[in-house]
Amino acid sequence: LKVAALIPAAGSGTRLGQGPKAFVQVGGRTLLERSVAALAGHVHEVLVALPAGMELPKGVQARAIVGGQTRQESVLRLLEASGADLVLIHDAARPFLSADTVRAVLAVLEQTGAATAAQPVADTLVRADPFQADGTLWDERVERAGLWAVQTPQAGRRDWLLSAHRRAETEGYSATDDAGLLHWAGHQVTLVPGEASLFKVTTPGDLLLAEALAAVWDA
Ligand code: CTP
Ligand code: MG
Repeated sequence: LKVAALIPAAGSGTRLGQGPKAFVQVGGRTLLERSVAALAGHVHEVLVALPAGMELPKGVQARAIVGGQTRQESVLRLLEASGADLVLIHDAARPFLSADTVRAVLAVLEQTGAATAAQPVADTLVRADPFQADGTLWDERVERAGLWAVQTPQAGRRDWLLSAHRRAETEGYSATDDAGLLHWAGHQVTLVPGEASLFKVTTPGDLLLAEALAAVWDA
């Protein structure tokens, strides 16, 4: 079976505020370069969705296509451009992906057809008052047991993902991730323990964390 890594990297990085996020560097390498390098040795091909008008940074070994207006649209285009049987979908914005996690997700993918990296939630959870704009604690009895925070890589049979995405497009359903979309389409998705390093670089604070981690990660 042919396996492809699909990397949505077409976002504009609004919350970070430094231009298209995949091209932002940490520890001297772009987020995109780090994500591609983490996957390249594990799959038959790497496909990247880029913002219109951008090219792959020099030295990044992958095939590039133009992404869409939303992450979901970028992933649909990647799924359509790939000829693989199985795919791993990984955000360019999560640059610290270990070989162990890639292997763990791939192993479950081959057994079950649908898997995602995720982590049991460790923090105490509360709900804010929906009628107060400023974050007033409203309910402290939010049960944490059984809650997982979803990361990437997310993996699935390409035919399952394609039909879930096409159905979502037709019905106007939007999901923030592909494992959620597979579940919505009726598939059982296995949660594979990910790692704290897989946090998504979203805000300037995350970039500071990423810089600090890069020094240790690259050593
Ligand atoms: N992404 C994409 N196509 C889009 C939007 C997002 O391929 N139209 C990708 C991003 O490049 C990123 C991943 O999806 O690798 C997760 O998205 P996010 O963290 O939201 O990145 P951005 O959309 O770039 O950031 P922001 O929402 O702050 O603008
Ligand atoms: Mg976004």
